[in-house]
Amino acid sequence: MIFQQDLLKDQVAIVTGGGTGIGEVISTELAKHGAHVVITSRDPEHHKEIIQKIEKLGRRAIAVPADIRQPDQVQAVVDRTIKEFGKVDILVNNAAGNFVCAMEQLSYNGWKAVIDIVLNGTYIASKAVLPVMKEQGHGNIVNIGATYMWMAAPYVGHSGAAKAGVLNMTRTLAVEWARYGIRVNIVTPGPIEETEGVRRLVDESRMREKVINHIPLNRLGKREEIAWAILYLLSPAAAYITGNNIVVDGGAWLNASHYGLGD
Ligand code: COA
Repeated sequence: MIFQQDLLKDQVAIVTGGGTGIGEVISTELAKHGAHVVITSRDPEHHKEIIQKIEKLGRRAIAVPADIRQPDQVQAVVDRTIKEFGKVDILVNNAAGNFVCAMEQLSYNGWKAVIDIVLNGTYIASKAVLPVMKEQGHGNIVNIGATYMWMAAPYVGHSGAAKAGVLNMTRTLAVEWARYGIRVNIVTPGPIEETEGVRRLVDESRMREKVINHIPLNRLGKREEIAWAILYLLSPAAAYITGNNIVVDGGAWLNASHYGLGD
């Protein structure tokens, strides 16, 4: 336990894509620290195990089917959350999609799939919780960035463009929604162990050693380390922080343009 167990006591969190990868650990860590969790997923049947794990912690958890690109499906998630829990304190916009492809080969549909999931999905889910959070007079939204959003993103240009948009939207929403008591921040992971991203982008191209050599702290990150940054932003200790970005990457982005991926 990294923070006090009752840090998020009885708060209700929606975690998009919260049943797999980093999302799974975000969901579990939020529950460990007191929150009830609503997991959105395209295939919630796969999430029985994580639901049971969260229930064993003494919290409630449900998985609701939704494609983050479909506003009516995302609205149904918020409606179901209100029906089951009566409020939404937290939204973590974690759902993402990515694949390695040079811009020259990238089809419009491939570009659009990633922009739709990452950028439009973050917009859709944030807009869907807004009326509830506004009515409550409080809310906490955390988005997920990528360090290549600041620089060229060779071979993941669709994701780079989408994440750059998410960063800008984070700052805009932080300013526009502060008046409603809603804070909006972003956590930006570097390469993280046990993720599809590292499996596909790093391990499949046998780049692990090269990537680690570029990271000042000389290792890949742990999924928990992303969740802990999110917990901090959700905590009262961050009550005066909005529109901000916490980079959790072992110092990597300061040291490399894109870890030499694709060279
Ligand atoms: N290389 C090039 N193009 C690709 C691709 C790849 N590896 N994977 C998908 N595409 C293209 C498809 O060819 C299609 O374009 P086309 O119609 O011109 O052929 C377009 O992307 C949409 O593909 P589709 O499979 O229909 O999209 P989807 O909505 O089912 O999947 C993706 C979304 C593309 C983001 C898919 O990679 C995905 O679902 N990923 C989820 C897992 C994930 O990405 N996790 C995060 C890892 S960091």
